[in-house]
Amino acid sequence: MRDQGSPIAMITAYDYPSACLASEAEIPIILVGDTLGMVVLGYDSTIPVTIDDMIHHAKAVVRGSGASHVVVDMPFGSYQSGWQDALRNATKILQETGCDSVKIEGGSRSAETVQRLSEAGIPVMGHIGLTPQSVKQFGGFKVQGKTPKDAVHLISDAKELESAGAYAVVLELIPVALSQMITQRISIPTIGIGAGPFCSGQVQVMHDILGLFNKFQPKHAKQFHNVGGDILATLMEYRKQVEDRSFPSANESFYMDDHALELIRSQLPDLENDLSDAVRIMTEQNYELIARVSEFENIMD
Ligand code: KIV
Repeated sequence: MRDQGSPIAMITAYDYPSACLASEAEIPIILVGDTLGMVVLGYDSTIPVTIDDMIHHAKAVVRGSGASHVVVDMPFGSYQSGWQDALRNATKILQETGCDSVKIEGGSRSAETVQRLSEAGIPVMGHIGLTPQSVKQFGGFKVQGKTPKDAVHLISDAKELESAGAYAVVLELIPVALSQMITQRISIPTIGIGAGPFCSGQVQVMHDILGLFNKFQPKHAKQFHNVGGDILATLMEYRKQVEDRSFPSANESFYMDDHALELIRSQLPDLENDLSDAVRIMTEQNYELIARVSEFENIMD
């Protein structure tokens, strides 16, 4: 797609239904991002996310991903201690989830790991700029590469990742001109998030574009639809219908054959006449009724 000048859409997903929808929308790459920690698990950062969290969610995503490529984030602590740990953990992620590739944060500091994994046959996507796992080091979610020194550093990070064998690189929160320079200087796709329109592709967090995460709205995220608002309205309507007894209606209920009902009533003369009302009230007496009905069913069988 990059070589054909066709922009690549990538979206995060963390479960089976969202993966099914992303795949149905023909989104070519699904990222099981460690943003999972923030938008699904409710942490303040991605740092607490574990390998087991990633594997649990990635398995569900892979089951729904259809023809889309699935890349899984290697979480904090799963690769920083050296390429051997990284290789072991990436192997576990690939084997247990069935995903297509892994993503690792960091430029030159991660280059050797990217190279070792690539040599072992594991496709790796890089990630530079604002790398959320280092957010404490950056002092917050701040735009990176704004000074000439930092910009040159990021260009060389991208080149190192390319040389190490990365198949693509995410550019997060960097100025438009810098992402354009990087995209022109490397031959692997750049996937931007808060990096402007000149990248080979774009990635967004699904919960941001759907309005499902309201704690904060990053400037780079565009809310395409307020699905969160729709869900809230639906839940309120559900609660209301339960409370005013308009749900369940006849459409959602199941009925007995009149003849069978008559038979039951005649066999259980000592019980209240209206069996369905008795079941609904669920008094102790009705538990007994249920026991006797099932006893009766056994006799009938
Ligand atoms: O974890 C994630 O969702 C990411 C994207 C922000 C690129 O890494």
